[in-house]
Amino acid sequence: KVVAVIMVGGPTKGTRFRPLSFNTPKPLIPLAGQPMIHHPISACKKISNLAQIFLIGFYEEREFALYVSSISNELKIPVRYLKEDKPHGSAGALYYFRDRIMEEKPSHVFLLNCDVCCSFPLQGILDAHRRYGGIGTMLVIKVSAEAASQFGELIADPDTKELLHYTEKPETFVSDLINCGVYVFTSDIFKAIEGVYSQIRDTSSNYQSATRSVPADFVRLDQDILSPLAGKKQLYTYENKDFWEQIKTPGKSLKCSSLYLSQFRQTSPHLLASGDGTNRKPMILGDVYIHPSVKLHPTAKIGPNVSISANVRVGPGVRLINCIILDDVEIKENAVVINSIIGWKSSIGRWSRVQASGDYSERLGITILGEAVTVEDEVAVIGSIVLQNKTLNVSVQEDIIL
Ligand code: GDD
Repeated sequence: KVVAVIMVGGPTKGTRFRPLSFNTPKPLIPLAGQPMIHHPISACKKISNLAQIFLIGFYEEREFALYVSSISNELKIPVRYLKEDKPHGSAGALYYFRDRIMEEKPSHVFLLNCDVCCSFPLQGILDAHRRYGGIGTMLVIKVSAEAASQFGELIADPDTKELLHYTEKPETFVSDLINCGVYVFTSDIFKAIEGVYSQIRDTSSNYQSATRSVPADFVRLDQDILSPLAGKKQLYTYENKDFWEQIKTPGKSLKCSSLYLSQFRQTSPHLLASGDGTNRKPMILGDVYIHPSVKLHPTAKIGPNVSISANVRVGPGVRLINCIILDDVEIKENAVVINSIIGWKSSIGRWSRVQASGDYSERLGITILGEAVTVEDEVAVIGSIVLQNKTLNVSVQEDIIL
């Protein structure tokens, strides 16, 4: 048997995701029409002998209750939310719930960050790990040298794949091979974390102040476990050859939405919409997800990379390109939405434009409307972020509307 743990973090961790994370925990924000964590969860479902999935975080339990019960029913696998009383760090959180995780005596525990987007080749990682031995195997990927410094950089033996050296977000370049935040471990991971705790206890103040900048009961997987265990024949790497992105900003979620939509071509083609503008169906271009409850006018033109959530109404002549439209939005006739995310219950007026450059790396490269924003008729909102409950009756450009 194996179990999977997905680290979901908590409200203080999601601040870069504002304004979308004000009322919805970041892990539940839809990408390609499914909550962010739905994608790793459905990848877990494909592992043979998977007994349970745990989500560990410090959000209130009620925020995950509905999702956890519906996904458990849908996948027919128990998915449980375990709430920490406060953040314990990525390894500390795992250790905090060790008895629950080990209840069914799994041979292996998968550990996944919730905020990464990839095809999650979990069975491949597990099979590789069984060949390598040791405590754990991590998914790694090559990125550009400039991008690498935002991640854990590492050096692996090209033949044995052993992790030889690991540095978390180094200031000077170490390697363009980085940590994807997806791991499989044997139960020995708990002994390794226990070892860090006893080291902290034994050498208490000295060790703590010399080498750690975090509270004594906070254990980070990267700095406190991966770095010291590198080069000891305990950790191995599995290289990801498919897509991978980290999801720290709303702009990135638009990019990840497009990656998941194109993955649907292979894994779930039934989720992708089609239509050529005839037979009273709108014209669909490229990869588009449309929730079955959406009311679409047949003269609208939609795509590529568009996902439209439940109960959205799209009027005549509307054009949607590269955008995420969240639940209960209304888009009135001849409005245009390009390179944008439209928050729940928002309304876009007639002949209005909500648009941005589409450069994901720029702060205002994607226009984001928070929950219940009203854009009145004939108003343009360009390269801007608009907080929840605002009404815009004049056009704005490169602005943050608080
Ligand atoms: N439950 C819980 N409790 N979750 C936590 C906690 C905690 O105290 N702290 C972090 N997390 C979750 C986050 O929500 C995220 O899913 C994951 O653990 C890792 O978060 P961080 O520890 O903040 O690290 P990071 O995301 O900046 O970087 C990590 O992931 C990168 C890949 O995305 C590192 O492992 C990097 O090396 C790696 O490249």
